[in-house]
Amino acid sequence: MANDKDLTRVEQVVFLCQGGGCQRRGAEAITAAIRALITARGYGDRIHTIKTRCVNPCEHGPVVIVYPAGVWYGSVTEDRVAELVERQLIRGVPLAALQIHPLPVDPDGDAGGAEARAYDG
Ligand code: FES
Repeated sequence: MANDKDLTRVEQVVFLCQGGGCQRRGAEAITAAIRALITARGYGDRIHTIKTRCVNPCEHGPVVIVYPAGVWYGSVTEDRVAELVERQLIRGVPLAALQIHPLPVDPDGDAGGAEARAYDG
């Protein structure tokens, strides 16, 4: 199915797990809330969201992954969505309380570099 969204301005991609484990923990409502907030804040053209199948750490569902930051969030609840969007997506500051794994600092001093590589491929 063709999508006419202009992706040339996309700066961040948010992967929203819709696997069974995450669905049972409220992924659908989390997805809707994140998308609504991105649109309401006027970032719809710069932040692209993609629903995924299971991305593996089911015990941490609902899982939300943000790239290029390489931050994996888990146990995301509706009452934390606004904070997650504002901090991670708008200000670029990870929300440590919801991170599945703490971000290591790589030798170049970039937080998240090693984490992002760990999930490549
Ligand atoms: S169902 Fe979401 S990580 Fe498996």
